[in-house]
Amino acid sequence: MNQPRKILVTSALPYANGPIHLGHLVEYIQTDIWVRFQKMRGHACHYVCADDTHGTPIMLRAEQEGITPEELISRVKGEHERDFKGFHIEFDNYYSTHSEETRQLAETIYARLKTRGLIESRTIEQYYDPVKAMFLPDRFIKGECPRCHAKDQYGDSCEVCGASYSPTDLINPYSAVSGARPVRKESVHYFFKLGKCEEFLKDWTRGGALQDEAANKMAEWFEAGLNDWDISRDAPYFGFEISDAPGKFFYVWLDAPIGYMGSFKNLCDKLGLNFDDYWKQDSEAELYHFIGKDILYFHALFWPAMLEHSDFRTPTKIFAHGFLTVNGEKMSKSRGTFITAESYLQQGLNPEWLRYYYACKLNGSMEDIDLNLEDFVLRVNSDLVGKYVNIASRTAGFVSKKFGGSLRAIEEMEHDLVATLQNASDEVSAYYENRDYGRALRKIMELADEVNYYVNDEKPWELAKQEGETAHLHRVCSITLNLFRLLTIYLKPVVPGLAKQVEAFLNLPSLAFADAKTLLPEGHRINAYQHLLTRIDPKQIETLVEANKPTLQAAAQPEPHSEQRHAEHQQHTIHPVADTISIDDFAKIDLRVARIVKAEHVQGADKLLKLTLDIGEARPRTVFAGIKSAYDPAQLEGKLTVMVANLAPRKMKFGLSEGMVLAASDERGGPFVMFPDEGAQPGMRVK
Ligand code: MSP
Ligand code: ZN
Repeated sequence: MNQPRKILVTSALPYANGPIHLGHLVEYIQTDIWVRFQKMRGHACHYVCADDTHGTPIMLRAEQEGITPEELISRVKGEHERDFKGFHIEFDNYYSTHSEETRQLAETIYARLKTRGLIESRTIEQYYDPVKAMFLPDRFIKGECPRCHAKDQYGDSCEVCGASYSPTDLINPYSAVSGARPVRKESVHYFFKLGKCEEFLKDWTRGGALQDEAANKMAEWFEAGLNDWDISRDAPYFGFEISDAPGKFFYVWLDAPIGYMGSFKNLCDKLGLNFDDYWKQDSEAELYHFIGKDILYFHALFWPAMLEHSDFRTPTKIFAHGFLTVNGEKMSKSRGTFITAESYLQQGLNPEWLRYYYACKLNGSMEDIDLNLEDFVLRVNSDLVGKYVNIASRTAGFVSKKFGGSLRAIEEMEHDLVATLQNASDEVSAYYENRDYGRALRKIMELADEVNYYVNDEKPWELAKQEGETAHLHRVCSITLNLFRLLTIYLKPVVPGLAKQVEAFLNLPSLAFADAKTLLPEGHRINAYQHLLTRIDPKQIETLVEANKPTLQAAAQPEPHSEQRHAEHQQHTIHPVADTISIDDFAKIDLRVARIVKAEHVQGADKLLKLTLDIGEARPRTVFAGIKSAYDPAQLEGKLTVMVANLAPRKMKFGLSEGMVLAASDERGGPFVMFPDEGAQPGMRVK
């Protein structure tokens, strides 16, 4: 092999205030496959990541939960790490931006930029929440859309008519934090003078670090002009206080990419690696950032400019990918396609199904990738189970039964297919290297087809029944299992868990790419074949989607934002009190005291309980309530509660729901079911 390369790889740092979902996983799976591939090629490759922990949304979220930001970020980090592990994403270090390493590096970079005259301070005017005594990011100002007059729209854009505007255009703006009317207030901010870096950035863009589509985007940005970048925020803010500017903090996006360095620094200290070898200006190590297209601006403009002007090296390449759609549409909570990593695993779906499917769809471009749920089932079942696993399951049994588990040696020349598969190594490698995983897998599946044709032609199950064909059978099975081993090497970056099972079955140490050059020796003993992978049952997908649909109580939560993301976003708020209604409006709601006669789990639903409610009518009502997370059925039976008795019945996957029970919930907790005071009787009106 050529000299091993020194490679440092990162994925974007997920925000520490939300769960990992299938959209995120496009990126982490894409990166993990590439890293595993590089390691299997014998390169020194380190993969680091961290939680992105700073900013207003995280600060407010912690406050709403009644905990400190430190407590919040430590809990979420645990959840993220659990989810990544569940999907076989193997970081060499998973850290936090709220770390001493990151703080020091941020200070160093800031100080150097300042020495170069690239930091400037000036007074700006911003919206301020007088009740909460804090400046408000755009996303925390809501009001009426100036175009379509929809209520409760965010400060940057209207979700109803799609208009974008600035918060000053909102009619009757209010703070999403306290509900107060925001006022304008002045304060001093620090700016990074990006405009001064234009020459450098133009050069850098031409240097080949970007995909063509990304370079085109850059051209548009240069065209539009590079604005100074506001890198400070006023207290209260959860982040790093700027050492020479008390009360001012680094804006989360300043220290976030520095978190890549912080995580790597932490790894260096653990492993005794030399940090400067990787980060000094003329470093020979390669540095790659995998990111989503929505954060290209930060990685292709601010980040290289900051690095260059603080005497660090710039990235070798930035690999941007597109966004995930599910069944051709943006992920949606109401359609149940906003699927969390946790729920996928909890429903018992195999993580390698998803890794395989994403890999089939990835091609190294910035195009969006679609998870079509029907196609997902077909593709995985037909390729991984029907083509690949099938090869072993059709031949392994004979080796155990007839040949004591031992293979005979085969020669490269013994069958064309052996050479064909061995020689595919370079082609497959080139596809992986270029992140064209879709092509790599198409090639591998073509090879798997060939192997299956070979088995079909030889029919080992018939040879096994024929006297005098024993040697022939041994040869066929030995060839086939060698071919299966070669396919496993090629698939391993995508399905590492499955490959590990195969290594155990074939009785092999961990396979690397160079192993494709060799074949199994005479007398190599394999272990008894154990079932390797099950098919996806389409019902599992239905259940998964159902489990991710909001329950009646949770239905009021806003949809997540993706495309039009500003840096600080996606946080909730204390809901302002709704518009007033008349007493007649209220009288339309028939609220009744109900006795919970029966409470049961619903098979396949992870949020719902099925309640049988007596409200004094001849026939009891059935209601599906999203309260399973908080109540044991046994604890509810016999209790009184309050139900909406005249809500139009709603057909749900599990049956008809004939009303709704009242329960309170928001980000702080819940659901908390309402129980009337003693003495109430089933059927009484609640008014
Ligand atoms: N915290 C920032 C990144 C800082 S990097 C110094 C951030 N976090 S994120 O949690 O919103 O997103 C993390 C990564 O996941 C980003 O690269 C983002 O593009 C990617 N994705 C988030 N949602 C996605 C989809 N729906 N589809 C594909 N990738 C998505 O941005
Ligand atoms: Zn509007």
